[in-house]
Amino acid sequence: MKKVLVTGGCGYIGSHTIVDLINNGFEVISVDNNSNSDIRVLQGIREITGVTVKNYTIDLCDLEKTRRIFSNEKFDGVIHFAALKSVGDSVFDPLGYFHNNLNSLLNILHCIKEFEVGQFIFSSSCSVYGNSKELPVTEDTPFEEAESPYARTKQMGEQMIRDFSKVNPATSSVLLRYFNPAGAHESAIIGEAPTNKANNLVPVITETAIGKRKELVVFGDDYDTRDGSCIRDYIHVMDLANAHTRALQYVMDDRNSENCEVFNLGIGEGVTVLEAVKAFEEVAQVDLNYRIGDRRAGDVVAIYANMDFAAQKLGWQPTHSIKDIMRTAWAWEQARTEAIVPN
Ligand code: UD1
Repeated sequence: MKKVLVTGGCGYIGSHTIVDLINNGFEVISVDNNSNSDIRVLQGIREITGVTVKNYTIDLCDLEKTRRIFSNEKFDGVIHFAALKSVGDSVFDPLGYFHNNLNSLLNILHCIKEFEVGQFIFSSSCSVYGNSKELPVTEDTPFEEAESPYARTKQMGEQMIRDFSKVNPATSSVLLRYFNPAGAHESAIIGEAPTNKANNLVPVITETAIGKRKELVVFGDDYDTRDGSCIRDYIHVMDLANAHTRALQYVMDDRNSENCEVFNLGIGEGVTVLEAVKAFEEVAQVDLNYRIGDRRAGDVVAIYANMDFAAQKLGWQPTHSIKDIMRTAWAWEQARTEAIVPN
């Protein structure tokens, strides 16, 4: 059985990916400092898969502690999710974002080199493209200026890995550029559960609908788009999770021709914020309390993916629509709210 380290394993995409990895026969070890996640998600993973995943609660910015994990365990591959991920927060805390996202990556790369790990998968983001002049974006679309420090950490992270790959041919790396991950596992046992205030669109929608928030503020309706709100490519988290398994299998089977390859992971469709709200209202049969507010600093206007490369090379096709995303996110919101509100 191949052993994989998942950093950020208690986080949103990390936890869903662990489920998919286990279902595909991998042994998984997690590391998470739980700065924005809850260790109890591991119970949910056990409920779904029957497997207890070991987690090391350390901060990856600490090289010595990170090294100790690599020397305790022998990993065949590493999937590196652990990072701060709020576009808006990063604008106000650039140093925090550079410190956390870049130092942790640097330490992981040091350990991959020292402990000779053969496969490395990196969580990148479509935010690397900035306000792209061409849509949909392909993996070769040139980067524009990063719109936020978060996006810049992803541009810099990718560059660090490319430079590392040039002189470390023993490690095959894959850079996965996520578009907008959302939704939850069909069981509603795990889903997006940040311990800090949620600020991504879909959890804000479901929290508003269930009454944890007063309203959703739509950040701007004066953009140059079909209804004035921003356009994104929302991808279901379980589709995204499966893409990681496929990417790992791809590098493990030695099918990649280069030792650092990049894939877009979206569904290839642009959805406006107002369309996303409508999709939720239809699925959940509720009227959402929302209002139009100011633009949010750091937002790009519109972005969606050309998905041909991932389909062709990884044999991967997303199977969930925006309505599936809203349905599963809503089921998860209801389940987690019931779990914390005593009868
Ligand atoms: C960004 C990245 C994405 C990354 C994610 C991590 C881009 C283009 N995408 O997503 O790759 O995975 O960060 O967090 O940079 N919105 C509202 N009201 C809200 C919340 C959001 O109107 O309360 C709008 C935003 O303005 C945006 C859309 O909803 O237009 C999606 O926002 P969000 O879910 O925060 O994700 P991004 O910032 O697009």
